Amino acid sequence: MATSPLDAPRRALQPSFDPAFRADVLRGLAGPAKSIPARWLYDETGSEIFEAITQAPEYYPTRTETSLLQAHSADVVRQSGADAPVVEFGSGSSLKTRILLEHMPKTTYVPIDICGEFMDAACAELGARFPGLEILPVEGDFMQEVPLPSCVKSSDGASPEALGFFPGSTIGNLLHAEAIDMLRAMRRTLGEGAWLLIGMDRTKEPDRLIAAYDDALGVTARFNLNLLTRINRELDGSIPLDGFRHLALWNDERSRIEMHLEALRDVRFEVAGTPFTMDHGETIHTENCHKYTPQGMEGLLAAGGWATQCHWSDADGDYSLLLARAHDHARG
Ligand SMILES: C[S@@+](CC[C@H](N)C(=O)[O-])C[C@H]1O[C@@H](n2cnc3c(N)ncnc32)[C@H](O)[C@@H]1O
Repeated sequence: MATSPLDAPRRALQPSFDPAFRADVLRGLAGPAKSIPARWLYDETGSEIFEAITQAPEYYPTRTETSLLQAHSADVVRQSGADAPVVEFGSGSSLKTRILLEHMPKTTYVPIDICGEFMDAACAELGARFPGLEILPVEGDFMQEVPLPSCVKSSDGASPEALGFFPGSTIGNLLHAEAIDMLRAMRRTLGEGAWLLIGMDRTKEPDRLIAAYDDALGVTARFNLNLLTRINRELDGSIPLDGFRHLALWNDERSRIEMHLEALRDVRFEVAGTPFTMDHGETIHTENCHKYTPQGMEGLLAAGGWATQCHWSDADGDYSLLLARAHDHARG
């Protein structure tokens, strides 16, 4: 039975004035090395700007991953089964999911995202496109085990094994230890025997990476700077928006792109009644995007409890799509 996203059961997260956001921002701005977790980049505006980033000519990951999904989704579904419930972590626009769902249009789809407004709009579009699909959105944080609707994960093991979907190299936003914890939480969320289809970006020449995260039209800059607008709006901040610029740096030692907001002059501001000062040139670290070797990806998945079954890449070796299975059920 098709379910309207608006009727579907939802776990409530916090209201728009989120105490966790306030705590992360106040803690992150207090120390000498300032940083704010990347998840807060995704309010409704941030999610919309992220979609625009995926269209930027320099941003190769979305195009490459989309081609890989077009080439290999049928094979994925042959292995998982067309009735496997699809559980997507950080679903955003759910645009790539459409490619997978073409092969399983009557299954159950559980998108999980921290930005509920954007997810609702994406689910409405998906419901219109796949009328036989049951859609059960969950607004929540994928860093923890997420309780799934009982029809997806029955306690008697009667429902088909789920197919987790984690595209966009979103895993790259996490530090190594966080990524392992997250993969383990995913395994608990999905249950024994589950499948995981994950997209991960590969290491490549720093110039190409920096261009992808600092596009000529300034879309990524808008995405990053929107965090300051969000802080001002939701946390009663007075951060001067013209006092900062977007920076994308390659950290070779840690194999990652880092996004920062750099102060263009000495600045003073308040957030939620707390005063802060930053010196000219000081930065707020807002996102990491780790890049992996093919061996590194499979090693990370194994540490998180997932055995790689298939590993696909494009002809240029830019990006990987991997199908993994919870260890005990893995072949070999
Ligand atoms: C890089 S975007 C990827 C979007 C989409 N999956 C894609 O491949 O284009 C990351 C997505 O994860 C969501 N997200 C980030 N951190 C999250 C968290 N801790 N829990 C749930 N969703 C999160 C964001 O709201 C956003 O939709």
